[in-house]
Amino acid sequence: MNLIAPSLLAADFGNLEREMEWFNRSEADWLHLDVMDGVFVPNISFGFPVMESVAKLTQKPLDVHLMIVQPEKFISQVRDLGAAVMNVHQEACVHLHRTVYAIHEAGMKAAVSLCPSTPVESLTDIIQDIDVVMLMTVNPGFGGQKFITHSLDKARRLRQLIESSGSHALIEVDGGVNRQTAPLLHEAGVDVFVTGSAVFGAPDPVAEVAALKALTA
Ligand code: DX5
Ligand code: ZN
Repeated sequence: MNLIAPSLLAADFGNLEREMEWFNRSEADWLHLDVMDGVFVPNISFGFPVMESVAKLTQKPLDVHLMIVQPEKFISQVRDLGAAVMNVHQEACVHLHRTVYAIHEAGMKAAVSLCPSTPVESLTDIIQDIDVVMLMTVNPGFGGQKFITHSLDKARRLRQLIESSGSHALIEVDGGVNRQTAPLLHEAGVDVFVTGSAVFGAPDPVAEVAALKALTA
């Protein structure tokens, strides 16, 4: 599978309607929304009021990436937003199994993200219950960072873990995804490509999404 998920973090926040207009017209599959709390990551982004406004501007599935401590506190708020995917960090969940089940009970797909230094093997005992595993291919907190090359090896190991366990989880990547890195990630078995600066910074974002879609087909 090759789903493209533009990350709103790289948008022009003074022109969200215009950004959502091209997003809706493009081949983009999901809208990726980055929530930061200044605790789990050294930055703060946006919260529910902004996401509620944006949610009204698109019919496409929302992938809400919570870079926050105790994300389980916000399951019903993320559900009320209409999110399709609630994306929590393994490192932020003391009781990940309970949180994954609560996300499912709320009617959403459960995505679990791993920071660059967290091994894929840490998900061995939950992999069959997860819908998406997201590998951070930069350290979370900022857009526009350099892709960590080791992520390719990690994606291959994750693909093996998924196949050997009979899990149906999709592999998503986030950080430094562009025309150079996307084909390599596709080859390593990745299904969902989050991309911020590469598409929002492109002269023609619609064409950039189409190019990434074609390069990962
Ligand atoms: C980083 C965020 C990413 C970010 C990616 O912590 O999780 O979603 O927007 O930005 P790029 O594609 O510019 O690396
Ligand atoms: Zn993200």
